[in-house]
Amino acid sequence: MDASFRKKNGENGTQSSMYLEEQATKAGVLSCIFSLKEEVGALAKALKLFEEKGITLMHIESRPSGMNKEEYEFFVSVDTACTQALQDVISGLRAQISGQVHELSRSKQGDKVPWFPKEIQELDRFANQILSYGSELDSDHPGFTDQVYRARRKEFADIAYNYRHGQPIPAVEYTEDEKKTWGVVFRELKTLYPTHACREHNRVFPLLEKYCGYRQDNIPQLEDISRFLKSCTGFRLRPVAGLLSSRDFLAGLAFRVFHSTQYIRHGSRPMYTPEPDICHELLGHVPLFADPGFAHFSQEIGLASLGAPDDFIEKLATVYWFTVEFGLCKQGSEVRAYGAGLLSSFGELQYCLTDKPNILPFDPEKTSAQKYPITEFQPVYFVAESFEDAKEKVRRFSATIPRPFSVRYNPYTQSIEVLDSTQQLRNLAKSISGDMGILCDALQKME
Ligand SMILES: [Fe+2]
Repeated sequence: MDASFRKKNGENGTQSSMYLEEQATKAGVLSCIFSLKEEVGALAKALKLFEEKGITLMHIESRPSGMNKEEYEFFVSVDTACTQALQDVISGLRAQISGQVHELSRSKQGDKVPWFPKEIQELDRFANQILSYGSELDSDHPGFTDQVYRARRKEFADIAYNYRHGQPIPAVEYTEDEKKTWGVVFRELKTLYPTHACREHNRVFPLLEKYCGYRQDNIPQLEDISRFLKSCTGFRLRPVAGLLSSRDFLAGLAFRVFHSTQYIRHGSRPMYTPEPDICHELLGHVPLFADPGFAHFSQEIGLASLGAPDDFIEKLATVYWFTVEFGLCKQGSEVRAYGAGLLSSFGELQYCLTDKPNILPFDPEKTSAQKYPITEFQPVYFVAESFEDAKEKVRRFSATIPRPFSVRYNPYTQSIEVLDSTQQLRNLAKSISGDMGILCDALQKME
């Protein structure tokens, strides 16, 4: 019998005399498993239903039920062309035994789940899957005609291209010109943070100055920041050569991995960049990833993306855009910015808190359908009540994603657990039970 079959019957304690499980096992084959009470003629009656619907059984097996001594289990396979007829048979079987049938799970042929990484090392695959290489610039890029800048971009792209999980991120010796560009951006933005950035950003920023070399005259190293983030929230950075697909980028977040660029914008226009650069990553994103609530929220979006259909990936990427990139949040009676696109843009950080843009409450269902421009200030922003509230909303939204399993990140093994078997659920229950024990013990001691 197909080892992937999973029995979930009887979990509610009911003594059913029959159960069914359907599953597409291999191309062209639909299988179902059911159990019957051990009585004369029971199987013949069931097979009669298949015969009446013109279904030819490709395979049939039987065995004593492991759950009820009075029952036998039957496993049958039919051609997927018989899907509808099999459904009729299932209804007939139910009717025959007075509705005491539990249908356990169903996955139809063609429900292909897109591949997603389950081990953190598998993120290495994305290095070869960038949509654009970091040294190939568009003709309207400020550095397009600058051969020195383009050669430099290739150096950064090569670092990322050759990087593998577990390695330290190579340190970069930034040039005086690059440091000058960073200095301009750093100085200007820092003046706005106390009045425009959320409290989480303002809490972490001084720590980055203290521990990671955030200074006007120094471009911090990704490895130092990654180590700092790991100690705060378990987030880590890995260098990326160019633009990743939304699916790949979001998958990284599920592992608390943020793909970061390492190059800097062209020095001719320090306050402008047509693409993410190290100023955007380090000043906009990094401070928030050191906040536990925000880290959790970001990972929630990543987990929701794993194995999701393409249209939902687009929705999640839009939610990401209006939160992690351009999100606003309530803080007391004020609204502040927490999106990296805002926190790394001197102009838009001021504009977003004026009365010019349209401000709407964050609601993943509506937010995910909002259109947005990518080359100008946003006409619409969404305000979150808090990261905790936003996380819960994303979690509820994720539950609407049509995928036949749930996922959970295991931080001990740095892997994704697909919760689609009783064993997996049992492991989760044990883990929750262990945590509950710790909680009760701590409460008792405090009392
Ligand atoms: Fe970004």
